[in-house]
Amino acid sequence: MTATQRIVLSSDHADIELRQTIAKHVAAKGYEVVDIGPMTSESTHYPIHGEAAAQKVASGDCQLGIILCGTGQGIMMAANKVKGIRCGVCSDTFSARMIRQHNDANMLSLGARVTGEGLALDIVDAYLDAEFEGGRHATRVAMIEPS
Ligand code: RB5
Repeated sequence: MTATQRIVLSSDHADIELRQTIAKHVAAKGYEVVDIGPMTSESTHYPIHGEAAAQKVASGDCQLGIILCGTGQGIMMAANKVKGIRCGVCSDTFSARMIRQHNDANMLSLGARVTGEGLALDIVDAYLDAEFEGGRHATRVAMIEPS
């Protein structure tokens, strides 16, 4: 990582503690964390938070995003509705590395009811430490963008 990168974090009510643990972990790696909540475990709706985090990345305010819900799936779907967002759910480190290297994923989604804290932090590391390889992958990533 060269210049300080801003990472937006968000989740629904299923994942407040894991999100806060990830926030500390990411900050310790030297990233600037923008945690947009929610801050309580009161029941909420993952599409709201997925879209809000995605807008931060799509606008350029943040370079990357990490989002969570119970499975990681619903909030990922909401984020991917925002133009310019490429978000994948990962429950293994190989996929986390590959969505960055091959898919240039600008957001990572995790399932707090699927993935335990230790593995979640390893997944975050695999995602953040990887770099987009470009080349033929850039051609394919460009093909994902809606016309
Ligand atoms: C909330 O109960 C749950 O549906 C949500 O966290 C998520 O798993 C949806 O995809």
